[in-house]
Amino acid sequence: MARRRQIYEGKAKVLFEGPEPGTIVQYFKDDATAFNALKKGTIAGKGVLNNRITEYVFTKLAALGIPTHFIRRLNMREQLVRQVEIVPLEVVVRNIATGSLTKRLGIEEGLQLPRSIVEYYYKDDALGDPLVSEEHITAFGWATPMELEDMTGMALRINDFLTGMFAAIGIKLVDFKLEFGRLMDQDMVRLVLADEFSPDNCRLWDAETGEKMDKDRFRQDLGNVEGAYQEVARRLGIMPESDGPGDHKGSESIQ
Ligand code: TMP
Repeated sequence: MARRRQIYEGKAKVLFEGPEPGTIVQYFKDDATAFNALKKGTIAGKGVLNNRITEYVFTKLAALGIPTHFIRRLNMREQLVRQVEIVPLEVVVRNIATGSLTKRLGIEEGLQLPRSIVEYYYKDDALGDPLVSEEHITAFGWATPMELEDMTGMALRINDFLTGMFAAIGIKLVDFKLEFGRLMDQDMVRLVLADEFSPDNCRLWDAETGEKMDKDRFRQDLGNVEGAYQEVARRLGIMPESDGPGDHKGSESIQ
């Protein structure tokens, strides 16, 4: 196959030109970073798992009527997606207090929030992705008021659906980050869910033990990061092909 032209390399993914105009190949790396890339490492097999988990989640969300950039998975580490213009915002939804919310506002760790909270961060590594208000977003033109309403509505619907989906497999969806993109559709611009949904950008706690099953294991040096990601995939019923059915590697305790 002809070598694909690389368009962009991020911390966890590489984007290549797709086979047809308007398409992109998203390659999932094993690289992991935290704290705005101050901490760097690799999580063996992470790219394969995140590719599968993102495929699974985006396919479920599309079935629910949430438009996404996802077209199809190509192989173990790559998926074909529609080319979009990424909105420069990280949309975070929180159900349980932890992470920056507890640090910034002194809220008690583990508190079940009285209602789901949506936050927006401006995507700018040099600034450390600062928390911004709706006023900043619309005044500086990062998104229009309609786009903001659209993203917030989708984020809350996604939260409702995924909270139930994870609860059914014994996992609490604590919080997560989404990114959206503008898709040129004939003469219309539509907002669609883009990027990925994986344990790299959400917090998942085992409902019984409270064990962390996400990138906090890497951020906080808790060990067995791979095992935790594998266990999420195993509970979703999507362990990658190479591990085959009957391989219960991921079902061991993640400690
Ligand atoms: P926070 O508590 O550190 O603000 O993180 C909130 C959620 O957003 C959590 O699920 C992790 C995710 N996240 C990212 O995906 N990328 C980031 O750069 C940060 C800071 C958080």
